[in-house]
Amino acid sequence: MLFRSILAYIGVSFAAAAIELPDLPYSYDALAPSISEKTLRTHHSKHHAKYVNTANEMLKSDPSHAKLSAEKIIQDRKVRANNPSLFNNVAQAWNHAFYWKCLKPNGGGQPTGKLMGMIERDFGSFDALRTKMENEALTCFGSGWAWLGYDGKNRGHEKLVVIKTSGAENPMAFGITPLLTIDVWEHAYYLDFQEKRGDYVKAYFDTLVNWSFAEENLKSILPGHEEL
Ligand SMILES: [Fe+2]
Repeated sequence: MLFRSILAYIGVSFAAAAIELPDLPYSYDALAPSISEKTLRTHHSKHHAKYVNTANEMLKSDPSHAKLSAEKIIQDRKVRANNPSLFNNVAQAWNHAFYWKCLKPNGGGQPTGKLMGMIERDFGSFDALRTKMENEALTCFGSGWAWLGYDGKNRGHEKLVVIKTSGAENPMAFGITPLLTIDVWEHAYYLDFQEKRGDYVKAYFDTLVNWSFAEENLKSILPGHEEL
């Protein structure tokens, strides 16, 4: 299915009942000073771990849902309506596994190739895309996520989109494939930036973002694509 290749790429398997806590692809101090070791260690080993452990506990006592992949749980409106706690913990486990790959030491810069071409086609320029994503991150009320995604719902009118989601919500629930995300829950930045979410988002784009990951995600959706 459409999202499996991304899931495989980020190294997380949800096919069985167990949801795993992946190791970070860098050390806890590798993103400093933009994200401190204390923030990253707490975010990964406490917050992400708790979502994973809680989801697994829920799935253990819920055989019907344990058979479903994480993507199915995230996309299934009945699960979300009838068991919001399961949805929240499974989605947050997935979101964080994805988020770690969106970051890298000495990140930043701009994407290349097909992704850059689509950004210029759909937003006008890279700067316009960045401004839009920053705005979504800053206007996400409370806790949530800002995403760059691929909307392939209308054949012949596929396009990149920028959206924000609240709480644990994930674009897959709306038929949009995630390419990149920013965690704007306060636990992601408060120790380093306090209330200045804008400074965290600026640091994300200037020093952290891993555009290669977004490019690989796009490639996994559009195998054999031609350069624009
Ligand atoms: Fe988080």
